[in-house]
Amino acid sequence: MALITLRQLLDHAAEHDYGVPAFNINNMEQGLAIVKAAAQADAPVILQASRGARSYAGDIMLRRMVEALAEMNPTIPICLHQDHGNNLATCMSAIRHGFTSVMMDGSLHEDMKTPADYDYNVAVTAKVAEAAHAVGASVEGELGVLGSLETGEAAAEDGSGAEGKLDHSQLLTDPDQAVDFVLRTRCDALAIACGTSHGAYKFTRKPDGEILAMHVIQAIHDRLPGTHLVMHGSSSVPQHLQDLINESGGEMPQTYGVPVEEIERGIRMGVRKVNIDTDCRMAMTGHFRKVARDRPDEFDPRKFMIPAMAELTALCRDRFERFGTAGHASTIRVIPMDEMAKRYASGALDPAITGAKAA
Ligand code: G3H
Ligand code: 13P
Ligand code: ZN
Repeated sequence: MALITLRQLLDHAAEHDYGVPAFNINNMEQGLAIVKAAAQADAPVILQASRGARSYAGDIMLRRMVEALAEMNPTIPICLHQDHGNNLATCMSAIRHGFTSVMMDGSLHEDMKTPADYDYNVAVTAKVAEAAHAVGASVEGELGVLGSLETGEAAAEDGSGAEGKLDHSQLLTDPDQAVDFVLRTRCDALAIACGTSHGAYKFTRKPDGEILAMHVIQAIHDRLPGTHLVMHGSSSVPQHLQDLINESGGEMPQTYGVPVEEIERGIRMGVRKVNIDTDCRMAMTGHFRKVARDRPDEFDPRKFMIPAMAELTALCRDRFERFGTAGHASTIRVIPMDEMAKRYASGALDPAITGAKAA
């Protein structure tokens, strides 16, 4: 099956009231484990690669890996998405290498550290959308900067994240500005800021409305009922994975992620794409540590990978079930990118028609 575009997949998710997890991948084992869960659940899936993943595995390897996963699982629609593209060139090279969707993260400048102003964000996202849509690829934009409402900081240990202190006006997406942003950029999906951040250290306590601002999602959805919303930083940092890591020699301080029930609430408020990387990392490395601790004589990497992949499959399976993604794969017929390009050219997918009508 050809890879599906994000736009087609999220249009389907909106029509049928479910959310789609977007799992980050860097290697074959992650891809195999995630798509195994998708096949078990009959769920479509978004596999996303960061710039770091692209330089780690290489574009040719990533593309062939995902094509192989699609060939091995012909009934599962798979979207290959660029996570946190930092400029036009990154997004265009992703599409040239077979990605069907790109995120242009214009909330930060190209260095992915410095918060950018609104006009820069609109201009760069609109430019990427025009170019991507011409070949049928989809575009996710971001408005608002990811970071903690507790500390004012982006919590990411690595990857993308703003440097320095941020105030609440930067950390929470403005619903009125969101309408203007979607209409002017014509992005297909909008990543919003509501107090989540990348990495394991999101919250120092189980989050409540003070530090996880779900009301912002509702306010944006009220103004943009037809626009697909994206929640970044959506790992739940499960306690059992923290315990697995710490009981196996790790030293992760106690931390709290985004409760799965809050994501389920978000899906009812128009969230269609849910970004998860940290939980997948913890599922695998927890078992690497456990094998290393329990069997110090073991040196076959497969003996480390097999339980790690099983834990990752179980995690993904749970998210497909809880987000309502399960059961939908076999009902989707993938629309080729050339056909998507024609639909963009005709204006049929323009947010002025589909996304931004007043509620
Ligand atoms: O953007 C954050 C994702 O977790 C990707 O992280 O840049 O370390 O691959 P990464
Ligand atoms: P987590 O670090 O919460 O998994 O978020 C991942 C993400 O948002 C990737 O874009
Ligand atoms: Zn992200």
